[in-house]
Amino acid sequence: MSNVKSLMPAGTFSGKVAIVTGGGTGLGRSMSKYLLELGATVVITSRKIDVLTKTAEELSTETGSRCIPIVCDVRDYDAVEAMLQQAIAQCGKVDMLVNNAAGNFISPTERLSHRAFDSVVDIVLKGTYNCTLACGKYWIENKLPASVLNIVTTYAWTGSGYVVPSACGKAGVLALTRSLAVEWGKYQIRLNAIAPGPFPTEGAWSRLVPPGMEDDFDMAKKNAIGRLGDHQELANLAAYLLSDFAAFMTGEVVVLDGGEWIKGAGEFNMLDKLPQQLWDMMEMMRKKKS
Ligand code: HXC
Ligand code: NAP
Repeated sequence: MSNVKSLMPAGTFSGKVAIVTGGGTGLGRSMSKYLLELGATVVITSRKIDVLTKTAEELSTETGSRCIPIVCDVRDYDAVEAMLQQAIAQCGKVDMLVNNAAGNFISPTERLSHRAFDSVVDIVLKGTYNCTLACGKYWIENKLPASVLNIVTTYAWTGSGYVVPSACGKAGVLALTRSLAVEWGKYQIRLNAIAPGPFPTEGAWSRLVPPGMEDDFDMAKKNAIGRLGDHQELANLAAYLLSDFAAFMTGEVVVLDGGEWIKGAGEFNMLDKLPQQLWDMMEMMRKKKS
């Protein structure tokens, strides 16, 4: 149970329909739940229909809004097109798309087969452009304003060892976000993105923390705020970016990482570790000299 408050006014998404890829688990589930609470109808989609069905039933009951499970492997364009047509048939239209589905694992890159590389890039980048292209064609043909939210990471800019397929895929999604924001602005289609820092989920944590090294990989210690993200904090930002309150914002990527990226980058940030006594001693020595 989160202590973080809901940001958006009740009914923000009344009459609106969203597709959330990877909406059955983790952050996709949390964003879907909040969109439902704000009145949207939400289609959640991924490969596992049992997971989707369970989540859709739970979220519909908890929020009182319609959550619809539709199975779809985002790597397959025909499957994406079929999922979109099913969503339109069941909901009448689609107004918003959240490209949240992803695949990732840690490995020295030279140990990967080309199939392993494909499997992550295909989910992250191909999955995002498949869904964006299918929805974009539909929105432009039907002259519908729309909003897309992509989920990237801070290593989309910096790159990162040991998650190279994911870094390549997310960097592509970043380029897609900014490129299409400009090209499709004239159709009133907005594209923005969030780069989350560490938000605990079973999917990410089980794959990205080496077994037995949980203490060494205390993600909370890596950022300036000193704690992990709360799913409601991400959901608040996601809802704002998707909503008409952000109607003048497009092509933007918002980092929500408790200062993790800049903490890792600042050359002298490790001076955090210096004890107060050492600062006192240095100050005394400086004063003695002057
Ligand atoms: C090396 C691996 C591997 C691993 C699979 N492969 N897992 N190689 N290390 N841990 C190889 C396989 O051997 C195979 O190659 C190829 O990848 C395809 O494997 P499949 O199991 O057939 O793939 P598939 O069923 O398509 O599953 C995709 C997946 C899986 C990415 C491998 O992990 C998955 O379904 N993930 C979805 C959920 C997920 O990853 N969530 C985390 C998102 S977190 P060969 O050569 O043997 O055929 C995230 C956070 C980012 O993105 C930032 C955090 C700060
Ligand atoms: P997650 O629960 O594992 O979510 C990944 C989702 O993607 C799953 O629901 C999975 O469902 C779906 N998926 C995978 N392959 C798919 C495919 N081929 N077609 C359709 N759906 C597919 O992990 P998460 O932590 O919530 O991650 C959500 C997003 O946040 C990802 O984009 C991730 O990169 C990003 N992110 C997370 C963190 C974090 O700290 N958690 C940090 C930075 C970025 P199925 O297995 O049923 O297909």
